[in-house]
Amino acid sequence: MKIDDLPVRDELRGQSPYGAPQLDVPVQLNTNENPYQLPEPLVARIAERVADAARSLNRYPDRDAVELRTELARYLTRTTGHPLELGQVWAANGSNEVIQQLLQTFGGPGRSALGFEPSYQMHELISRGTGTRWIAGPRNADFTIDVDAAIAALAEHRPDVLFICSPNNPTGTAVERDTVLALHDAAQAVKPTVVIVDEAYVEFSHRASLLPLIEGRPLLVVTRTMSKAFGAAGLRLGYLAADRAVVDAVQLVRLPYHLSAVTQATALACLEHTDTLLGYVQKLKGERDRLVEALRALGLTVTDSDSNFIQFGTFEDQRAVWRAILDRGVLIRDNGVPGYLRVTAGTPAENDAFLDAVRTVTKELSPRSCKN
Ligand SMILES: Cc1ncc(COP(=O)(O)O)c(C=O)c1O
Repeated sequence: MKIDDLPVRDELRGQSPYGAPQLDVPVQLNTNENPYQLPEPLVARIAERVADAARSLNRYPDRDAVELRTELARYLTRTTGHPLELGQVWAANGSNEVIQQLLQTFGGPGRSALGFEPSYQMHELISRGTGTRWIAGPRNADFTIDVDAAIAALAEHRPDVLFICSPNNPTGTAVERDTVLALHDAAQAVKPTVVIVDEAYVEFSHRASLLPLIEGRPLLVVTRTMSKAFGAAGLRLGYLAADRAVVDAVQLVRLPYHLSAVTQATALACLEHTDTLLGYVQKLKGERDRLVEALRALGLTVTDSDSNFIQFGTFEDQRAVWRAILDRGVLIRDNGVPGYLRVTAGTPAENDAFLDAVRTVTKELSPRSCKN
């Protein structure tokens, strides 16, 4: 039996599950993870907090994750300067689940979501998974959002949900505040539209967070994650900031007790160590900038990056270049953007290994594969 022999929903037929290859190679720079392990004092604190939580695992966890959401609100207030409280913050198992809950609430059968491609592929996959029709919006050749074309697409397609990913994955491109405002206003002029600003990588940005834009805009939602800046991808903790009504609305679809007591305890321990973890972010930003310079010095085209990863090219056959770099023990990502590959900033040693591989590959491969 194959999937298509089963009575699966029509929109799932012929689809493949999301998945970057998880290959066992020495240098893994393909999934935009933070390369630094959590520091030992934090590991010890997690053990302590989890032991505490374990003592009451016979009970369901706090369904509303009040302590955790309060601490997340405190973190956002401190780092964005925009005052937030418990009622404006919601948390779930990764920002993917947050996005899923938003689409279950505001998308669904008969509704549609629009995003500007190339972008984070899960926006489309979660849309499809929730029965929301996906609409691919345009970008400029430099991967910024073409505001006029975007406004035209909003008028034509009248989506219920609009995705703005800033910094955008896989390009690294930040979206200007004025662009977000223009798109938000244009969308609302057509019909009430939930605007999801996905800020998974914002801590790595050169620019300020777009989070203060939620003020006075009840349909603008900012999603965040602890998978990147907090170096806790394995934790599965994402969150959003929005108007209180949005936070109330997603609770209509969340599963009861969706955030385990162990998850809540671990996330709280990580938040106690925010300053140390943000110190790693500073190091990674430096490494990101070093990689951008080094790739440009090799004559490659590098998209400006506000993130912990870099899109570079251009290659006539990016798959061949990806494979040749992998053959040298370095795993990066081919996101299917014609001519481009994406590398995540790792530790200085990992980045050196990557740069060595790129130097060799661009010298050795035929000019048909590498045109730069
Ligand atoms: C733009 C973007 N949003 C959201 C996510 C999902 O993150 P999480 O681990 O919080 O589900 C990712 C993960 O790579 C991402 O790139």
